[in-house]
This record gives sequence, structure tokens and C-alpha cells, in this order.
Amino acid sequence: MPDQKYATLAVHAGQYPDPQTGAVNVPVYLTSTFELTGIGTDKGWDYSRAGNPTRDRLEEALAALEGGLNAHVFGSGMAAISALVAPLHAGDHLICSHNVYGGTARLLDQVIRHYGIEIEYVDLTSLDALSAALKPNTKLVHVETPTNPLMQLTDIAAVSEIAHRAGAEVSVDNTFLSPALQSPIALGADIVMHSTTKFLNGHSDGLGGVLVGTKPEHRERFYLIQKAMGGILSPFECFLVLRGIKTLPLRMKQHDENGRAVAEFLSTHPKVKKIFYPGLKSHPQFELAARQQKGFGSMMTLELGSREAVGRFLAALQVFLNAESLGGVESLASHSATTTHAALTDEKRAEIGITPGLVRLSVGIEDKDDLIADLAQALDAV
Ligand SMILES: Cc1ncc(COP(=O)(O)O)c(C=O)c1O
Repeated sequence: MPDQKYATLAVHAGQYPDPQTGAVNVPVYLTSTFELTGIGTDKGWDYSRAGNPTRDRLEEALAALEGGLNAHVFGSGMAAISALVAPLHAGDHLICSHNVYGGTARLLDQVIRHYGIEIEYVDLTSLDALSAALKPNTKLVHVETPTNPLMQLTDIAAVSEIAHRAGAEVSVDNTFLSPALQSPIALGADIVMHSTTKFLNGHSDGLGGVLVGTKPEHRERFYLIQKAMGGILSPFECFLVLRGIKTLPLRMKQHDENGRAVAEFLSTHPKVKKIFYPGLKSHPQFELAARQQKGFGSMMTLELGSREAVGRFLAALQVFLNAESLGGVESLASHSATTTHAALTDEKRAEIGITPGLVRLSVGIEDKDDLIADLAQALDAV
């Protein structure tokens, strides 16, 4: 049935009853290999690195949720970013948002750069900076929006237009908002990437990553990487993501509502020196957030002034857990400089604005009054 609404797609895309048994849930095909029907013939699958029926269903679901043509899942978000950049050749130029998840910078700087790929970090909040950086050999512009943890936004439609004119593709890391709150492909992006570990899984019980493509050529490109490099997602973890996305629209509504309430409370608290949340009118890109996103989400970052202040805050929290990661049903708080951005040098952190006093919150789906009360008592301890 064409044109189904989002909440219907989340429950049904790729998740139809098993044709053989009628099972309502997608079966978990825990098999490494498949019996062949003859020499060079099979029933659709031959070996699970190349393809697995549970994985096929998840890929179908994720392509539908992002409005893409195809999707390819990998063993983690980092494996997905590795697959995104693996097809680049020596001499190609890659532009990446200048403040991104530290793991992305670690991959690009400590691994990919050695293959002769030219990597340039550009402040993509500035379209002029992008135009100036694009070169004839620029193959990919990789955007993270909002960025982790500074919540800076990039105008996906404008960046896509400029990059396409220069012959480069645009990929968007949509992890912080999920397809429920931001649709990069509809805005003009070519490829969407997620750490499915976060909102798509939603329950903090499995790692994963995905690349959603928009062209038949993306299917060939990323399928080759799955088969050749092997960093695929296991059938059981595919099942966990399939289960998670059935409730994605509902969870995101609650994450969004709680996020706005918590940000509002923190924005006037005297112990919070600065808050980074695109849903507050004080955020410099509030208008872009309102235009480009379908919600503001539940990720935000606070400046508490010093590492010691963050230490006291984290120790006092009772509902929020002091843990890295995000996007699960439970609220988490983490010290950016020693967790997500530990891979960067002190100088690089200072350059992009990751100070020792930053703490990032992933607001969960608990009762918002309890979350605000927990933050209030922990800030008293700062
Ligand atoms: C924005 C973003 N992209 C990618 C990743 C990497 O994902 P994973 O931990 O699943 O490898 C993370 C992890 O925190 C992230 O926050």
C-alpha cells in the first residue's frame, strides 16, 4: 500500500508475517550458511555474511523509515562510517563537519588518512566555508547534525545543493534525532548514516549501524563492503533493532517532550553556565532547527564550569546514569572530554569547544518531573 504514514511504516515496513509459518514477528535466522539447491543455485541466500533473511527485513524497514532506496546494516555505527568511507580512493578529498563524534574523527585521522585520502574538517554551519573548501576531487561531504556534543546544526538542504553542484555526495549522520525527527534524504542528502545503537534500537541492548542509500549504485557499493569487509550486523541484533523501531515514533514523542521540559528547566538554573539545545530560542540556530527538524529531541549539553563540578554532578544523580551512549529509554549523563571525545588531544578539544566542564544529557522516557527533580538535586551538589 503506497504512502503509509510514519507510525504505520515503523510497525509494518519489512515486518510482515513470515510467509512460511505466519509468525507475526520476523524470525531470527541464526545460521551461518544455507543449503544450496544445486551448483550455483540457492533459495535466495547462501552465506550469512553475504545475506541473511532477518537482516534483509531490517534493511527493508530502515530504507522505508528514511525514505531511501536501500539500506545496509553493520556491526556498529563506526562500522557503518567505515563502510561509508571505504570506497574512497587515494587522492580523493573528504569534507567532514568540524565538530563530530570523537570516534568519527579517530577513524578518519588515525586510520583512513593513512590510505592517502585527503580529509578536511570544515565548519559546516557556514555555507561559505563549505563553498571555499570544495575541490574537483571532493567526493563526499559528511555532515553530523546536530553535532555531538555541541548541538551545532548544518543546513542539510543548502549543503546538499552546494555539494551537488560541485559533484560531491552528501552523507548525514542522523543518529541524534532518528528518522522520526529528521529526514535528510527528503532535504537532499544522498546517504543517511545511523548508529542504530542509539534511538533506533532504543533499549541500550545492542550495537549496530546503517547506511541508507538513494541510488542503485549505493546498493552495489555498500553490499560489496558488507561482503568484502565483513562487518555485518548479526541476525539477533537485527531482530533487536526490528523490535525497537516498532515503538520509535512513540518513544521519540516522549523523548522530545521530556527533552524540551528538561532544557527549559536547565536554561534558567543558576548553576548551568550554558546550555546547548536547539529547541531553546536562545540557541543560535533555533530557526534552522524548527525548519529542518520534526522535533528538537532529547540530546543536550551543559557547561558546568569545571571537570570537578561535573564530577560532583554525576556523583549526585540518582535517576540519570553516569554512562556513555544515548538514545535508550533510560536517561544518561556523560562527561564529554573523557568519554565520547577522549580520543582527541587537549588542543583539538579546546579548538572545537569541548571544555572540561561539559556534560551531555540523553533524556530518556521516564516521568519528566522525576528527571527534573533529579537534575535539581544534583545541581545543588555542584
Ligand atoms: C553521532 C554518532 N555517530 C556515530 C557513533 C558511533 O556509533 P557506535 O558506538 O554504534 O559505533 C556515535 C556513538 O556514540 C555517535 O554518537
